[in-house]
Amino acid sequence: MNRDISAWTVPAYEGTCSGKVNYDIGQGIDPEQDVCNDAYMTMISGAGIQDFVSYGKKLIESGYSVSFENDIDGNRFGLYEKEKQSVYVYYTASTGTVRIFDDTVSTVKRSVFSSKRCRLEGETTVLYQIGLPMSEEGTNININGKRINYGMMYVIKLADNSIILIDGGHSMQFDDAQIRQVMDFLEQITSAGKNGKIRIACWYLTHGHDDHFSGFIRLLEKCHDRFILERVMCNIPSVNTNDYPPVAKALRKFYTYIRSWFGTDVMVLKCHTGEKIDIGEVSIEVLYTHEDDVDPSTGLNMEQKGDYNNTGIVSVLMIDGMRFFLSGDINTPVQDILLRNYSEKTLKCDILQVAHHIFNPVSRLYSRVRASWVFIPQSPNGTVRTPDRIETMKVLRQHAGENVFFANEGTTGITAGDGDIRVVYSAPVAGGDYEGWEW
Ligand SMILES: [Fe+2]
Repeated sequence: MNRDISAWTVPAYEGTCSGKVNYDIGQGIDPEQDVCNDAYMTMISGAGIQDFVSYGKKLIESGYSVSFENDIDGNRFGLYEKEKQSVYVYYTASTGTVRIFDDTVSTVKRSVFSSKRCRLEGETTVLYQIGLPMSEEGTNININGKRINYGMMYVIKLADNSIILIDGGHSMQFDDAQIRQVMDFLEQITSAGKNGKIRIACWYLTHGHDDHFSGFIRLLEKCHDRFILERVMCNIPSVNTNDYPPVAKALRKFYTYIRSWFGTDVMVLKCHTGEKIDIGEVSIEVLYTHEDDVDPSTGLNMEQKGDYNNTGIVSVLMIDGMRFFLSGDINTPVQDILLRNYSEKTLKCDILQVAHHIFNPVSRLYSRVRASWVFIPQSPNGTVRTPDRIETMKVLRQHAGENVFFANEGTTGITAGDGDIRVVYSAPVAGGDYEGWEW
């Protein structure tokens, strides 16, 4: 699956280290893209910080200039740009690896995608966990075959009344009542009303499972003309290398819908670990992507054939002084990588999205995050069905007490002000009737 290195558009790494493999990092959101057009990463193992530094010097000698640098706990990240070309490079201290990206699939430069705006007096920023109908029994599908027990969706209402949409729930959670309620909600919080457009400044996708996007697609099938979609931020492994047909099929369908409704003007960013992206007053720092979990001998993702949930993005969002830990659906291998690479200070957050609907035993990570506010994309009964989940809840409650919110119980909005985080919005879930599985 390795692409011919001579086809690379970036200067080659020529240092002498123990190993070098190429990894197919996938496409942006292009449904028809052939495997030979996928973007690639070279991973060098047995490397030290000097290899990162000397490759950066080589880029500068080749006419590039540094446009972004980051240092998270001794892990170093750099973006180098020259005219239309850009090279992203990072060094991971714990594994002694340097990664070099020939990211040919992000459609705009990072500096164009990022759009910082400071909040003005009187404007507000609110983070919402969106209520989703789920099985109250806490099982995946209840006796009537009508409810699921997963799906996830968050919305950040920005100061300029646009939104960051995070994931989008499952198609089975978006019956007509849910669609109507979510539309009413979005019209209200953005002040778009019944006739105005709702501006999605960024649709952030944690990973490629359909319980994280097919619900909002079902909404868009009915109402896409009410929306403007400016950006999509994701990093999903190639559909060409995905050998589980349902996932690849759902992703191609998703990409096709987005292109057909919103065209090619949508800016797409395949974000990498260490990047900091500003969307309005919110800053997103990426801590993990599937590119961090590549076998140094085979150049293949360690998890794509095992637990696909480990191919998701993990990031910390700075929202009005609150740190929101967005974990997607990760499992223990990603927990281990995060604990290995980052300090307690980096992982400590105010708000936590509990990973994979609390199915996965990653409470060692939660002990580091120590969140005083917890969002769980699950029903309460779903948290008590196994000893692992009961144990996880104990760890979460140690830090959050009663500040634990379940997606099936409704939409919850929180904001910060004067250093205090507080609930400013609550509404019950409206939908839940079975209307078919298609989207
Ligand atoms: Fe999920």
